[in-house]
Amino acid sequence: MLLSSVRNLKKEIFMTFEEKDIIYPPVHPGTDRTFIRFYDGEIDLNSVFYSAEKETLPQRIFVTDTSVASLPALHSFLDFFRGEDFSHPKIEPGFVGKRGKDVLLILGAGEPYKTIESVLAIVKAALDNNGQRSAVFVGIGGGVITDMTAFAASIFKRGAHCELVPTTLLSMVDAAIGGKTGCDFDSYKNMIGSFFPAQKIHICPAFIESLSAREYRSGMAELVKTVLLYEPEFFERIEKNPEALNDRKGSLIKEGIRICVNAKAKVVEQDLTEKNIRMQLNLGHTFGHALESMSGLGVVAHGDGVAWGMARAADLSQHLGLCTKEYADRVKKCLASFGWETSPVHSEMKKKYGSDEEIAKILLNAMKKDKKNSSSKIRFILQSNVGETVITEVPESDILSVLK
Ligand code: GLY
Repeated sequence: MLLSSVRNLKKEIFMTFEEKDIIYPPVHPGTDRTFIRFYDGEIDLNSVFYSAEKETLPQRIFVTDTSVASLPALHSFLDFFRGEDFSHPKIEPGFVGKRGKDVLLILGAGEPYKTIESVLAIVKAALDNNGQRSAVFVGIGGGVITDMTAFAASIFKRGAHCELVPTTLLSMVDAAIGGKTGCDFDSYKNMIGSFFPAQKIHICPAFIESLSAREYRSGMAELVKTVLLYEPEFFERIEKNPEALNDRKGSLIKEGIRICVNAKAKVVEQDLTEKNIRMQLNLGHTFGHALESMSGLGVVAHGDGVAWGMARAADLSQHLGLCTKEYADRVKKCLASFGWETSPVHSEMKKKYGSDEEIAKILLNAMKKDKKNSSSKIRFILQSNVGETVITEVPESDILSVLK
């Protein structure tokens, strides 16, 4: 009893447990390689960023948001960035602090802050503090922060450097990997941006312990998506025991993160700029984005939309004769076991609109506006089995048949 409480009090040592490289053809000078390091134990960003000799370190422009800055895991790191009055960093949007030549900028948290103004605030924080092209822009946060920080790095003096510390499950397994950067514009998601892979990504799975249930489930959908696309064996394990993935301190989720990062790395190595196989990563997204926007932005979390979209994609595959009923049922059963809605008419759409017929048409119209469509037919990522994926355009009447 005594021994186990001593063990519980002891800090788990922060250490690297795996390293890997992603190699791509460079789209900008210096963007041909991403070094990924996985860490175990209690998060210690001071040891990630300040363990080398001070003189050898480049200037860093650290960017985070108010909700990440409030995490206890960041306190000892942020404490060094004191305001002019030497108080604790003020955790409010717009705070700029200094630690030697390094800069810390805190932005507002969430999708409403994913704006060109926030990107320019990052650029201004760098410029105001004598930032050079050799500076490293470090995004510490979920997809909103990592996308914007990498975008600011890509445009600052025609391209500075970038490192990322994803703090959500979604950004660890998806958003931070593969060099998509940018911000929203004029109510459209990710309308401005660039491909600019980070030079380094630091993955600390311990961050997921701090996520809300909604954030965790949202990231889980991207994990299940990647597993359905590329990891049949892991899919069998999670469908047999979905509960095990909900143990955030357990080994299965850490293994899942590592498997998804490696799977996505293989895809983006072959197709960084989404000319072909990278499109597969949009499984569930065409239906999901339509649900997200038509239920009212923020009502259905991104991952919940993607999960419902994967169920619709499974039904559409079956309807088109691309997969068996058994496969579609298997996918939907697994999604339902995580608590996601899989029925054709989502409850949030029922709350907001009238008949099932009307809801189906509203979603179809939203999909037609999706930027990925090259013709009047809408393109879908569909599957005939786990790991067997096709990209095909589908007529409207077939789409409508799986929405009601
Ligand atoms: N989130 C999909 C991609 O990175 O391509």
